[in-house]
Amino acid sequence: MTPVSLRTALETLTPKNGFWMTALPESGLLTGQDLDALGAEFRRRHRCLIVRGTLAKPVLEGLLAALPALRSEVHRNYLPGHKKGGSISRFQLDRLAPVFGELYRSAAFTRCLERITGEHLLPCPLDDPHTYALYYYTEEGDHIGWHYDNSYYRGRRYTVLIGLVERSQSRLEYQLGRPKRAKHDHEIHSVATDPATLVVFDGDGLYHRITPLGRDEERIALTLEYVTDPRMSPVWRFVSNMKDAIAYFGFAAAFGGGKRPRTGR
Ligand SMILES: [Fe+2]
Repeated sequence: MTPVSLRTALETLTPKNGFWMTALPESGLLTGQDLDALGAEFRRRHRCLIVRGTLAKPVLEGLLAALPALRSEVHRNYLPGHKKGGSISRFQLDRLAPVFGELYRSAAFTRCLERITGEHLLPCPLDDPHTYALYYYTEEGDHIGWHYDNSYYRGRRYTVLIGLVERSQSRLEYQLGRPKRAKHDHEIHSVATDPATLVVFDGDGLYHRITPLGRDEERIALTLEYVTDPRMSPVWRFVSNMKDAIAYFGFAAAFGGGKRPRTGR
């Protein structure tokens, strides 16, 4: 199958061929949003923002069109007591579905995120499998327990979650602030990550989980990771790779840095 490109997805938004990336305004990606107001909301909620149905329809459709070709690439993992589910790293996405990397590298999209976070955002290094990845909840009981998306980088790492498929009772549940360390907000919030829902948060600051999937249900989400300083010590790199290998993508993806051929699962 021919990979679907973001150029194809955005054709309806771009009057002049060849200028689609640089000419695309922020409003071409996020529909009807006041980015400064979203930024204020982001800061008020301890660097966490959830906006439902905001990703522009052509962009969402471009991402969804790439999913059927990826099904055989899902790497299943199971950590008793913590998580069960599937994932696809950036390396498979680069090979089979470049639309995800194109969105990640879109200057307009990055500008949107910078106005929301108030930070200068940088891409993760090329060998980070989480840079952009898909997470599949497809079997009964698939879930992930309470955790932070801790940054092993020297700077902050922001997670951007985009809902793609939501036919489940699973919910993103979260507590704002760092409830383990400070009395910010111990209330548990709950949201369905419906298609085109955008969630932006500081990985070190949001305690969150995905509740278990029911029978014959399905949930697929895309996450993008941006950092403020991409440097990482060799020790933390090893720790990060081990975590990615065991909990997410397998050893070939986590330690191969995308250089080795990968087998489908
Ligand atoms: Fe997470």
